Amino acid sequence: MKAISNQVSSRVGLEALAVAVPRRYLAIEDLAVARGVPPAKFTSGLGAREMAVADPGEDTVALAATAASRLLRESDVDPGRIGMVVVGTETGVDHSKAAASYVQGLLGLPKAMRTFDTQHACYGGTAGIMAAADWIASGSARGRAAIVICADIARYGVKTAGEPTQGGGAVAVLVSDTPDLVAFDRGTNGVFATNVHDFWRPLDRREPLVDGHYSIDCYLEAAAGAYRMWRGEAVAAGLVPGEGMASEVLARIAYHVPFCKMAKKAHVHLRKSELEDRGVVLDEAAIAAEEIAAAASFERQVAPGLSLAARIGNTYTASLYFGIASLLHGQAAALAGERIGMFSYGSGCSSEFFSGTVGPNAAAIIARAKLDDVLASRVRIDVAEYERIMALAASEPVAESPASGTFRFTGSDEGRRTYATGA
Ligand code: CAA
Repeated sequence: MKAISNQVSSRVGLEALAVAVPRRYLAIEDLAVARGVPPAKFTSGLGAREMAVADPGEDTVALAATAASRLLRESDVDPGRIGMVVVGTETGVDHSKAAASYVQGLLGLPKAMRTFDTQHACYGGTAGIMAAADWIASGSARGRAAIVICADIARYGVKTAGEPTQGGGAVAVLVSDTPDLVAFDRGTNGVFATNVHDFWRPLDRREPLVDGHYSIDCYLEAAAGAYRMWRGEAVAAGLVPGEGMASEVLARIAYHVPFCKMAKKAHVHLRKSELEDRGVVLDEAAIAAEEIAAAASFERQVAPGLSLAARIGNTYTASLYFGIASLLHGQAAALAGERIGMFSYGSGCSSEFFSGTVGPNAAAIIARAKLDDVLASRVRIDVAEYERIMALAASEPVAESPASGTFRFTGSDEGRRTYATGA
């Protein structure tokens, strides 16, 4: 168990990680059949396989508290080290009271800390992580660490275009000055923001309004813009060479994944825009060669980070961090000491491209997240059960005992929400 040190470290990043997912899932082919859609549209067209289905008891706070308590328990974190708890979410449970304060109380964390939520659609979790990283890097943390939980339930509604891209889950990360999982490259982050209506959810709505195809264009423009800035800073800092494809120097790139195919679109676009930025003009033969190179580079650099997204679906703020978890779960030993790129996108929009180095003990650290066990404990449901759950009121949780080590929303008295945990 690590103790607090007052020395300001130049290193900052992710020390450990844990996840929580709803206990039910739907096979995406079952949904396609029920909707009269060729299954290949959802499986190969969108890249989906399974989709998490959250019932009202598995709200954002319950998922966040489950992930954070696993983080403390499995990574043996001394709660006295924690000086900040942040929940990044776009599906919070109260317009005023922070999900982070529920988590602090449910986990019995110390009172001498900052608790707050961060919101900017799917970028909200990254906003919280960067705020925590800057707090640590500035020295204000005085050796303490932050827990940032990215938690969301992606709900578009039955029979909508977004229906096969639903999901839900939470990733809790420990941000500290001993970033044994991924040490961030400080001072090179690339950012891109613009005021667009690609996806939004007015205060009175349970489901978002979304301009689906336009949202893909907004994502791609943001990815190119944020990457361009990162590349400039990374070249200036000597992290990547000024000549050639800097994106290829990154061992892997984890993208925000609203549906798996989006990561492929993003990667192909990022390479295209990098070539354009470098003034490379491609003739017909070179365009064909780049198509082949981009497909191979996607398989090597991006596909290994998509395994959890394919089985859980969109998790909004948590999506990029499920991607990092997937990547390390499969390949941490091979990636030790390697630099990876990360892209976070939140509709509206705000985005960030950043990089970091995988730590030498990352394989042992990610093993503590027990990702296979978490997924194996889920149960498959049919479409009728999924539709029954979708019709339940958010405020009326079904009476169901929480599984061991998990939290459930149990009810509300004038908005004072109560939760139970399974022994
Ligand atoms: N076999 C194989 N593929 C097929 C097929 C078939 N029979 N039929 C269609 N396809 C392919 C299509 O060619 C298409 O692939 P390409 O884009 O590569 O051409 C893919 O399946 C999807 O088909 P459509 O575009 O026709 O699908 P759609 O219009 O019904 O809906 C969507 C797609 C717009 C993504 C919709 O699911 C949606 O609105 N999703 C929510 C919004 C979203 O996720 N936006 C992403 C960017 S915003 C963001 O990232 C923030 C966030 O988390 C929300």
